[in-house]
Amino acid sequence: MANVTSTIVADLAHNVNTTPFKDAQAAKVDVTEFYDTAASDHQAQPASSVSSILHAKLERKPATVTASKGNYLYTSDGAEIFDATCGAAVACIGHNDPRVKDAIVKQLDTVEYCYAPFFATDAAEQVASMLTDSTGGDMSKVFIVSSGTEAVEAGLKLARQYFTELLPQPQLQRTKFIARRQSYHGNTLGSLSVGYHAGRRAIYEPILGTNSNEEYVAQLAQELDDTFQSLGPDTVCAFIAETVAGLTLGCVPPVPGYLRAMKDVCDRHGALFILDEVMSGMGRTGTMHAWSQESESPLDTPYGVVVPDLQTVAKGLGAGYAPIGALLVNKRVVDVLSHGTGAFAHSQTYQGHPVACAAANRVQQIIREENLLENVRVMGEKLGKSLTERLGAHKNVGDIRGRGLLWGLEFVESKSTKKPFPPSDQIAAKIHNTGFKPDFGISLLPGTGVVDGHSGDVIVLAPAYNITAADVEIIVDRAERAVRAVLG
Ligand SMILES: Cc1ncc(COP(=O)(O)O)c(C=O)c1O
Repeated sequence: MANVTSTIVADLAHNVNTTPFKDAQAAKVDVTEFYDTAASDHQAQPASSVSSILHAKLERKPATVTASKGNYLYTSDGAEIFDATCGAAVACIGHNDPRVKDAIVKQLDTVEYCYAPFFATDAAEQVASMLTDSTGGDMSKVFIVSSGTEAVEAGLKLARQYFTELLPQPQLQRTKFIARRQSYHGNTLGSLSVGYHAGRRAIYEPILGTNSNEEYVAQLAQELDDTFQSLGPDTVCAFIAETVAGLTLGCVPPVPGYLRAMKDVCDRHGALFILDEVMSGMGRTGTMHAWSQESESPLDTPYGVVVPDLQTVAKGLGAGYAPIGALLVNKRVVDVLSHGTGAFAHSQTYQGHPVACAAANRVQQIIREENLLENVRVMGEKLGKSLTERLGAHKNVGDIRGRGLLWGLEFVESKSTKKPFPPSDQIAAKIHNTGFKPDFGISLLPGTGVVDGHSGDVIVLAPAYNITAADVEIIVDRAERAVRAVLG
């Protein structure tokens, strides 16, 4: 179980956020900030004359990728970029794998699309059974969609439906969702409503640095309980959290016992416990499901195994070969629907898309056959160690943290006080843009607002699961040079 620093403890110490689903604001989340800052200067062209796409930055068309192989992307201007982030933590087996292309073509020879409520396909059945098997059947059904956002949206709707069908008495008053401050769960209005950006107000409180994990977890459980009490415990549908926070907080693993404690609070109040593993799941943090690491402490845990009621996955499921996400549903929730309407009220035209499922099946087979999750753990440790050795002492590196192959570097103006740079300095964006320059040749994922929704710069690394030790050296060398080019 990865440790967290007191800085991260402070992040989570005040992060329980009530978000009444009905009247939540469309909070400004850092993906917006990311797009603001990420539109690269690298070979960008004025978009108005050359593109009809509504690009992230209207006035800029990003460099055009013309070829890819393994870890590398090649652009029309001759640049060769090491993709150290798998795009947005997606392309987890590398680019242009002929085996996945073959699987896609084979599926196209069978059927390219059929409407899921009318027809089943072997490809979709296989994705679903692979996912349910991976939880030992605790998550007993799967709803397959095309993105992480859609999986979250479906989860929120299913949580509500669960309470409308709960026996012996439906609980129609449950309309609210609790999420954490500084979280991101997607970009539709529903999923955006349960994401939140706000200040890490306790970051400098020295007392948090001396709290034991147990005290800290107890404090968080109390905060969540207080939130339930203030909303009216029987009005809450669910609490939703990222198992390992991704770009929004900059790769923060939970402290041991955190998930167990949060689930206990939910259970006590009869609310559902939703884990969003769109970014941290499907192997990215070293196990198929990030939540399973709650029980992997050497003593096999004082905290027990924590299985969510609902779980979302996406990015690593299809590795970018096709858009695919999924909602995993605990048998406890399935039981309620089975004894109720016997149907999920939500549906989408492209659910269970056969070509996306065929791609995902092949990707997952490759991950299994090549024992890539073991590689994620080994290379992840190496990456974290190497980043710490090379950049840990840098005057502007406030923290280096992560798990598996999801690592974040947080940049600060003052190492001693952890004061962030002013947002106008655009530190993360500058490092990202520098990485794209020919001397550096690396793609780094920039995030801003990890401190208060506006300030707080991070660079996230999320390379492919099959990287080698030599690749780790390339990543660390290029990332270090890009950081030093901007910050000295
Ligand atoms: C934790 C989390 N949830 C949901 C989403 C939304 O997924 P998508 O962009 O596939 O819609 C993301 C995307 O980054 C994410 O990191």
